[in-house]
Amino acid sequence: MRLLITGGAGFIGSEFVRLTLAEHAEDSVTVLDKLTYAGNERNLDPVRDDPRFRFVKGDIADPEVVRGLAGECDVVVNFAAESHVDRSLEEPGQFILTDVYGTYVLLEAARSAGHARFLQVSTDEVYGDVGEGRSREGDPLRPRSPYSASKAGGELLVQAYRASYGFPAIVTRGSNTYGWYQYPEKIIPLFVTNALEDKPLPIYGDGTAVRDYIFVEDHCRGIDTALRAGSPGEDYNIGAGGEVNGLAVAGTVLRLLDKPESLKQFVRDRPGHDRRYALESSKLRGLGWQPRVSFDAGMERTVAWYVANQEWWRPLKNGDFWEFYRRNYRRAPE
Ligand code: NAD
Ligand code: DAU
Repeated sequence: MRLLITGGAGFIGSEFVRLTLAEHAEDSVTVLDKLTYAGNERNLDPVRDDPRFRFVKGDIADPEVVRGLAGECDVVVNFAAESHVDRSLEEPGQFILTDVYGTYVLLEAARSAGHARFLQVSTDEVYGDVGEGRSREGDPLRPRSPYSASKAGGELLVQAYRASYGFPAIVTRGSNTYGWYQYPEKIIPLFVTNALEDKPLPIYGDGTAVRDYIFVEDHCRGIDTALRAGSPGEDYNIGAGGEVNGLAVAGTVLRLLDKPESLKQFVRDRPGHDRRYALESSKLRGLGWQPRVSFDAGMERTVAWYVANQEWWRPLKNGDFWEFYRRNYRRAPE
């Protein structure tokens, strides 16, 4: 297969690129990435010299670029997105441009090129807050943040292309993902890097909101399984099945780095904070996939990587980073 991997310089996309080239000798990969603040070409250093790899800097919302590349590939795997919930609360417009309009541009180009498969990487956040039980693929989409609404909008376009044109698209809905090469704004890399800098770990609200954390390798193996063994027209949840709250994330990071509990700092809650996401992933398990890395083992590997790769993350915590940080965390506890 000749894969067009959009957003392949980001956290999960770059893992998927590395995995694809390592495990599928016949495949070639073109990455299309705009290199936003979250994109990082260095994430692709391990594959840069592979003759089956090519990098193109560009926007998925640019029809000309996308049409050209779609014509040279067999399948699109779309990771490109604005991905941080807190930023979507500040600036929803860019989320709609990339996550909704950009998805439309990709769908249209892939349809015109006659692709036999398209994979849209989506999120468990489209189900919205889940009080009890676990979300299944047929459950209604009830997004509650500008980020999750934009991701749901992208998915609805995929559904429309399936129904209207018989377009052979697959959707995966992954849970909260952590691991190496993750820009240090999401809870786990932020807490790990703050702790390494002896800075406070800002816990939203009372720290009891729950996420179903999955290690990045497991998420990417799930996408690979859905792409190669899944059926066009189907949606697949990808979750590890655990439930971990913010307090436990902070505790784990401090324990692994041997830092004091006094670094925990409670800050005002995220507006509209979804209290819990939980996925039922038996449909994908039915295709032979299962998560291999426990939360404890994944956290050990992640923390060890951030300790060993400080030259990767320290330059990312620059002026723009701290400007966003000051705006976002200005909210003092009341
Ligand atoms: P990320 O923010 O690390 O990476 C996003 C990548 O997309 C970056 O390289 C960025 O430069 C690129 N990009 C953004 N806008 C673009 C545009 N208009 N054109 C081309 N490239 C663009 O995100 P991530 O955490 O790796 O997430 C990847 C995908 O997985 C997203 O679609 C996200 O919604 C989804 N997802 C993420 C998680 C998670 O926990 N991180 C969980 C489930 C699903
Ligand atoms: O579940 C999948 C989603 O996971 C993806 O679709 C998103 O792209 C990804 O960003 C992530 O969204 P979350 O909102 O779950 O991730 P985040 O790391 O921002 O927050 C995780 C939990 O930690 C949430 O309950 C809020 C809390 N939190 C987060 C940050 C950044 C804190 O307590 N303090 C923080 O500083």
